[in-house]
Amino acid sequence: MIFEQIATGGCQSYLVGCEATRAAVLIDPELSRIDRYLGLCAQHGLSVKYVADTHTHADHFSASHELGKALGTPIVMHRFAPSPYADLRLDDGDMLVVGELRLKSLYTPGHTRDSMSLVMEDRVFTGDALLIGGTGRTDLPSGDPHQLYESLFDKLLKLPPQTLVFPAHDYKGRSHSTIGIEIAENPRLQKTDRVEFMAMMLALDLAAPTHLTEALRTNMSGGKTVAQLLSEAAAKVPFMAQADLKERLGSNSRDLVILDIREKEAFDAGHVPGAIHLPRGQLELRVNSELTDPTVRILTCCEFGKISTLAAATLRELGYGRAVALDGGMKAWREARYPLET
Ligand SMILES: [Fe+2]
Repeated sequence: MIFEQIATGGCQSYLVGCEATRAAVLIDPELSRIDRYLGLCAQHGLSVKYVADTHTHADHFSASHELGKALGTPIVMHRFAPSPYADLRLDDGDMLVVGELRLKSLYTPGHTRDSMSLVMEDRVFTGDALLIGGTGRTDLPSGDPHQLYESLFDKLLKLPPQTLVFPAHDYKGRSHSTIGIEIAENPRLQKTDRVEFMAMMLALDLAAPTHLTEALRTNMSGGKTVAQLLSEAAAKVPFMAQADLKERLGSNSRDLVILDIREKEAFDAGHVPGAIHLPRGQLELRVNSELTDPTVRILTCCEFGKISTLAAATLRELGYGRAVALDGGMKAWREARYPLET
């Protein structure tokens, strides 16, 4: 078996490959690590047959949709997954065949209604049902402590004690555990009485995960994250260094229109000398009257250098083929103590 565990912050994802056939499955991939997964596949000569999410993640961005599209690979989730892009929906006991490997789904709801674990040979991928020294929380959308109790005590903890546990999260740098160790040492599993377990889970009072709304919005719909939108725009435009722009200011060059796309108050408070003002919200509306020469070189700038990237990409789409974005925004420009006009 070829086995790679890829940690991204506290998120754990897994690439599991069959030695003989080079078929592989990716479990709980994270959006920012796509290049890493593809690199590992190339390094091991693996061909991904399935991309599986153990559940709808509420705290990070799943790469399944993007990888599914890029590799033409089916996305596997539990049949209760709300996502419209899950191609292969599993029931309890359904098995995935990956070359000579067999991964069997074990329906383990509670953290979410669509949580499943994947059991393979000597190990189980528990998603967020069972963590090392903990369990998934049950207070997020579709969570249910009753279901989690049953998933743990009636299913996962009945696996052989030597079964290796690979969770979807670990925030302390640990790679895995075993069912036996968890039964003995996991503080939450010491509450074997259903009522006590329920009371403990309901009393946890955890802070909402960061990116909750964005993670649920994108993971449940296949929509894009803001970072994805920005990186797609960044791939379509070149950038200009701030120091280069500063150099140009003294040169009397008329071959550059500096377009400040911030709101009026920000523009009035200080902008690059000679910049013209066209707020992002009015760009498409006023572009024909404000930018009459589509062959001119246009440099977009904003406060942080992100919205200006979107604006430059829009301008290129509109036919302003020489639009570029300032690398960094006016905040960095001010911090560099470059000239300002008010
Ligand atoms: Fe989760």
